[in-house]
Amino acid sequence: MLPPLFLLTLALLPFSKTTPYPSPGPCTGTCTGPIHDPSLIRRRTDGLYFRFTTSNRLNTATAPTLSGPWSEPCPALPHCSIINVPGRCDLWAPDVVEVQGLYYLFYAVSAIGSRRSEIGVAVSPDLECGSWRDLGAVGVPKGSWNRIDPNFLLIPAVKGLSGKDEKEEEEPKGYLLWGSFWTDLWQLPMAFPPVKLLDESAEPVHLEFNTTLRPQHRPPGPSEGGFQFRWVVDGTQWFYLFFSSGGCCNRPPHLAPAGEECKIMVCRAARPTGPFVDREGRLCAGGDGGTMVLGSAGEGMFAPGGQGVMWDEGLGGVVVYYHYVDLGVGKEEFRFGWNLLDFGEGWPVVVRWEGEGEQEGERSVTTTTATATTTASKRSGEGEGDVATVTGSSGGGRVRKRPFWR
Ligand SMILES: *[C@@H]1O[C@H](CO)[C@@H](O)[C@H](O)[C@H]1NC(C)=O
Repeated sequence: MLPPLFLLTLALLPFSKTTPYPSPGPCTGTCTGPIHDPSLIRRRTDGLYFRFTTSNRLNTATAPTLSGPWSEPCPALPHCSIINVPGRCDLWAPDVVEVQGLYYLFYAVSAIGSRRSEIGVAVSPDLECGSWRDLGAVGVPKGSWNRIDPNFLLIPAVKGLSGKDEKEEEEPKGYLLWGSFWTDLWQLPMAFPPVKLLDESAEPVHLEFNTTLRPQHRPPGPSEGGFQFRWVVDGTQWFYLFFSSGGCCNRPPHLAPAGEECKIMVCRAARPTGPFVDREGRLCAGGDGGTMVLGSAGEGMFAPGGQGVMWDEGLGGVVVYYHYVDLGVGKEEFRFGWNLLDFGEGWPVVVRWEGEGEQEGERSVTTTTATATTTASKRSGEGEGDVATVTGSSGGGRVRKRPFWR
């Protein structure tokens, strides 16, 4: 069973209306295995989806739609990274972006538990395996942070911003976000093309830092996997900072104890460099702020994290995609998940996808747990008592108690 305190916390969440969350959208083809820290993009020429994930020189899978069928993965960088640190053939946390007609793939080189990490970038005209030219390290300085989990935010050129000349174009801007587990999320401006930092000696901006102490002298409230997303709500442009808060869950069976497992948080700011605040107005660097977007919803959907966010033309909405653990299949199995986000009130809320009912058959592969999770999501909105009951009945038992951190 989950500790009662954990249940209480769930019941008091501001989003209790949507807790437990709708189950992840359907996925066919390669949806399990090394699918940690997914990064998605649609290829401009043919609309094909490319999904990059951690491990195996960066796994690349493709699909005609977000829900698959996802192909067998191939390595993006078959010859490893040119960055000469341990782990250069086992690359982490990819982040793909299209800039001025070329694709850039940011990645981390790191051995688990090691702080000797680096962030590199490769470039390709078409996203295909083996087409990437590795350009090596982007120059993130050493510091209190671990140089992992890169994310590149592009702010395209805007015409006539200066007000002098309508034809005049502001330069595009780009920011690299990284970190960090140890001191959470940091950011510095990038040069163009985005293969190096603008100024390696500049002082990084601390975007998010959770100083909440944890027992047993473990590092305070760890966050990693930051992802910035620009979105306009009612005519106002916001910068949303999504991140994975909680114990790292990259290597089952070493999952974080229940209640400390990965969950997806968000903060927002009017500018890409912050200051970021959560829905309650708490600072995310300086006030331990962060609003929960998606957390565990039972054994079938545990510890979501490593997320990215994108506008999906096919679904006509903004999508959050992530990895999560299915504890209900007899072993801890990592899976690829996605859900629609609604920004109606200015803050992203996971909402049910309309087509969900029709896909029921396809999803039943995850057996009884999937049913339990589905039932839970159907009950969302019924009231806090139900929420706690559902979570309590499906969340306990097989969750590992062994602490894990790196
Ligand atoms: C901060 O860390 C604590 C302890 O790990 C955790 O319970 C809490 O959810 C974290 N808050 C945020 C906003 O990430």
